[in-house]
Amino acid sequence: MPELAGRFHTLPEYPLATIPQKKRELIARGVDVIDLGAGDADLAPPPKAIEALTKAVQQPAMHRYGFGLGLVPFREAISAWMQKRFGLRVDPLKEVVPLIGSKEGISHLALAYLEPGRVAIIPEPGYNAYQGGTMLASAEPYRYALRPRTNFLIDLDEIPEDTLRRTRVLYLNYPNNPTAAIAPHDYLERVVAKCRELDILLVYDNAYSELAYDGYVPPSIFEIDGARDVAIEFHSLSKTYNMTGWRCGWAVANPEIASVLTKVKSFTDTGQFMAVQAAGVAAIESWDEWVPGNVAIFKARRDAAVEAFRAAGFACETPRATMYLWIGLPEGVPSALFADRLLDDEGVVVMPGSGFGAGGEGFFRISFITSPERIAEAAKRAGRVLSSLAVEVG
Ligand SMILES: Cc1ncc(COP(=O)(O)O)c(C=O)c1O
Repeated sequence: MPELAGRFHTLPEYPLATIPQKKRELIARGVDVIDLGAGDADLAPPPKAIEALTKAVQQPAMHRYGFGLGLVPFREAISAWMQKRFGLRVDPLKEVVPLIGSKEGISHLALAYLEPGRVAIIPEPGYNAYQGGTMLASAEPYRYALRPRTNFLIDLDEIPEDTLRRTRVLYLNYPNNPTAAIAPHDYLERVVAKCRELDILLVYDNAYSELAYDGYVPPSIFEIDGARDVAIEFHSLSKTYNMTGWRCGWAVANPEIASVLTKVKSFTDTGQFMAVQAAGVAAIESWDEWVPGNVAIFKARRDAAVEAFRAAGFACETPRATMYLWIGLPEGVPSALFADRLLDDEGVVVMPGSGFGAGGEGFFRISFITSPERIAEAAKRAGRVLSSLAVEVG
């Protein structure tokens, strides 16, 4: 067998890797499976996006390589939306990088800024592309545990000086997956100031910027003074428009940082299918007429989830954003054991907190990816498993 590179061995198991197979087996046995695992809703994309794709695929020009430039109207739609949504001026040609899903951009960016001896600060629990990029760049992850103690925020003042001096990248994601935490404005100001002081690239993952409730409006990091010097922000069609499988997103950064990501990508891909970018234009332009209705669906699911899981004996905050509930487990109940039991005994898929790294222990995550009724049914089943484990663990 050809020998693997050392860095390959640093990659942990991907938490969702084994679930689809297990789910298939349960369904084949006749189990009524309720899947609240991946952040991948059962809802349809905007009809206008589907129409635009259908039209675009009829045009031969759309089938050619997109290259880094991609479809210019996609860049222009992003720029217009960033202006309308966040009040920001973004040059469509120099400050936007079209992506094959934001995960692709987040993980590839690491190759330009990280190398052995350099550190990336990674929230744990956190989205896997942060550690993926760091490990694939053979750099050193500094895992900061997101816990209730700091309102699930990374407190840079707690990180040792020596580590901060070697840090080149800080990954932040608010509204946060999986904790559903949000970041106050003054916190973001402090982080930007620190990144400027220490020359740290702030990778701001804003995949959930549009899934917010109760009047909360998540900001862009570029609304913070000075962020343009040090930050790159990632956006995605995936969650806002129920378009996870389409693989379409973008990054926004100053021209220098944007060109760095573009250059790395020119060696790893040749652009997203331009018909998908054309559909992206239609999705972004349908924001006003379509997104509020979609958010209302997620809100109804959130409300049902909070009520049902509390009634089943669980502790959870009501999240003001994202499509997740981050639910605490009683002391001594390991999250992996709980999730395994819930799947094996009751046919419910949830994500154990420990699957997001040790910092996630003591919690599990559910996603609002099915109807309020099914979520409520899942909560009842979870309550039964909680009671039986509480007896076993004492
Ligand atoms: C925090 C976060 N960032 C990025 C992504 C990736 O989104 P995309 O589908 O655009 O790659 C996800 C998907 O789950 C996510 O949770």
